[in-house]
Amino acid sequence: MATARKPLVAGNWKLNKTVSEAVETVDALKPLVSGVSNVDVVVCPVYTALYSAAQAAAGSNVEVGAQNGYTKESGAFTGEVSPQLIKDTGCTWVILGHSERREYFTESDAFLNEKLHFALSAGLKVMFCIGETLEEREGGKMDDVLTRQVTEGLKGLTEDQFANVAIAYEPVWAIGTGVTATPDQAESAHLFVRGLVRDQFGDAVADGLRIQYGGSAKPDNAAELISQPNVDGFLVGGAALQADSFAAIVNAVSAHG
Ligand code: PGA
Repeated sequence: MATARKPLVAGNWKLNKTVSEAVETVDALKPLVSGVSNVDVVVCPVYTALYSAAQAAAGSNVEVGAQNGYTKESGAFTGEVSPQLIKDTGCTWVILGHSERREYFTESDAFLNEKLHFALSAGLKVMFCIGETLEEREGGKMDDVLTRQVTEGLKGLTEDQFANVAIAYEPVWAIGTGVTATPDQAESAHLFVRGLVRDQFGDAVADGLRIQYGGSAKPDNAAELISQPNVDGFLVGGAALQADSFAAIVNAVSAHG
């Protein structure tokens, strides 16, 4: 199996940080990761801080992404933001399908598939989140859930489009709980997901696809998790809010090579 995938480490700031706090965090992060060329580094602020964060990151190796995006470019859709407008702020990425969107905003696999296609057509790169709840895992439904999320969520993607897609495997029971998946649990889920992609889209797509781990990733567990052959980076929540802890994760990934 190819191992030449460039790791991707992204910070999902969720509903946190004012404009000035977001800019301060980007400004603090830049020098801490400026020497890192073997990892893609992304931060994802709230919509209101995207433009300022992207301005602060301009010219550095830090990219900026949004946490969501809609399925229409413009029109009478009060409160929504399109991928085209996200791109207009200077962002290059968008997170889609986070478990909090799936749970609190009842975003379905079909809707997320529509969002994915539309974001890609607008020229954004996408981190597409999947993952099982504790109840699903303990009920022996994990494989079925991941299969459904991959099959329905990625439906219709071409091989070329996969160049702009990463999957974030985020077991819901590990998100914000301080309970991190063990390296074995992460590796076996990532291997399973890559196998699904291999069956549906072929070897080239599966071997090139970056699969990030998310769920209480921290500086002190990043090195062990990234040493798993199918773990290609992280989507980090809590530990990404501070520039120094996020940079420590980036640097642990970079050191792994
Ligand atoms: P966490 O969040 O790192 O705080 O667990 C991860 C995520 O929700 O993306």
